[in-house]
Amino acid sequence: PEIVPWTRPMPVPPVLRPLVSTAKQEIYQLSIERTTAEILPGLQSPVMGFGGQFVGPTIRAKTGRKTLIMVHNKMDEAANIHLHGGHVAPEHDGHPKDVIEPGRTRLYLYPNTQQGTTLWYHDHSHGTEAAHVYLGLHGAYVIEDESERALNLPSGAYDIPILLRDIQFDDSGNIVVFDDPSKRTVVLANGVPQPYFEVAARKYRFRLVNSANQRVFKLRLTGDKITRIGSDGGLLANAVETEELVLSSAERSDVVIDFSKYPIGSKVVLTDAVAGEILRFDVVRRATDQSRVPAVLRPLPAMPLSTVDREVDLSFVFKPNDRPDGVINGKVFDMDRVDFTIKRGTTETWLIKSSDPTGVKHNFHLHLVQFRVLERNGGPPLPSDAGLKDTIPITAGETVKVQATFTGYTGRYVYHCHFLEHSWIGMMAQLEIVP
Ligand code: C2O
Ligand code: CU
Repeated sequence: PEIVPWTRPMPVPPVLRPLVSTAKQEIYQLSIERTTAEILPGLQSPVMGFGGQFVGPTIRAKTGRKTLIMVHNKMDEAANIHLHGGHVAPEHDGHPKDVIEPGRTRLYLYPNTQQGTTLWYHDHSHGTEAAHVYLGLHGAYVIEDESERALNLPSGAYDIPILLRDIQFDDSGNIVVFDDPSKRTVVLANGVPQPYFEVAARKYRFRLVNSANQRVFKLRLTGDKITRIGSDGGLLANAVETEELVLSSAERSDVVIDFSKYPIGSKVVLTDAVAGEILRFDVVRRATDQSRVPAVLRPLPAMPLSTVDREVDLSFVFKPNDRPDGVINGKVFDMDRVDFTIKRGTTETWLIKSSDPTGVKHNFHLHLVQFRVLERNGGPPLPSDAGLKDTIPITAGETVKVQATFTGYTGRYVYHCHFLEHSWIGMMAQLEIVP
């Protein structure tokens, strides 16, 4: 089936309704199931979805109010849920080996003690995470907080998550899991290729999530700049105007686009350097707008003194006549292996390298806490490294210095390459936080 651009609207994933909601906690139910979705026009493709939806429902949380989710795995194979960027206890983190067996239900607790930000949730079952996420097990998770609300940024119907990803199909419309250069690749915005999205002539906040397994988007808006206000872990210190927004797999960027300068009937297109036109905003009506984008948003937390230095090296090991292994510091992922033992509360500096001989890019992700990028190759960080980060792309030969403080919980967490085809083949390791 041919994709005719701008013929379908971009869906906004529905907000998941709690079963119980109090000031202290909200309780949700969420299934993991096989279903179908119309991604190519007129064709139902087999997919997997949280809540039976190809892009799962958006979960809206508040700082200081707990989220409890009863996740029921209706599939015939194990799966789980990981809150990417979430500050959660290890038993609720969706550790790759801690899965929900078929037919079982598991309760996950997200304490929402961190500040407001855009997170996302996805499957993390070891060996199957790449296929599961590719087939649709992903959704947005938004945390709001009071001090952010006080800034009066665009909110409510004008605050919209957009999950961007690519997907490949064979000739009969089945999804081809993993890169196959001979197959057709399309980029999806909230599950639809080249949709239009009707907007009012006013400011919108878009929470951009790169939910692709392995892709870096370089986004531009035709004829305009993009105002960036947040990254993985929350608001930036200042709003930043940018021509091009770089977003690697699992990275988030909150942006504000002001459509008030456009006459009704205008079309504003979001483009990617490789995929071309991916989403069109159609300005269709006027609207009042009391929202603001203050130049100064909110200071980033102070950086404590670092007392421990470590090195992390992401690479491949090639074996004759076999797929390569993904390795961290020379070794593949193993449940019994703990590379770093960290005393709770310690601030550490990690030098993360991609020494890959093949020139392949990697994408470092740390669970539990956000970090700050201090340096790239001894020089300043990239604009996309700004703010509180949990995922960063690392080009072959690059060295990136980051700093993190390991607060909150004790226990084992993973860190890995977030190109899921790399973590799947072993590019993942564990740390253990001790009292
Ligand atoms: Cu987005 Cu270890 O995960
Ligand atoms: Cu990698």
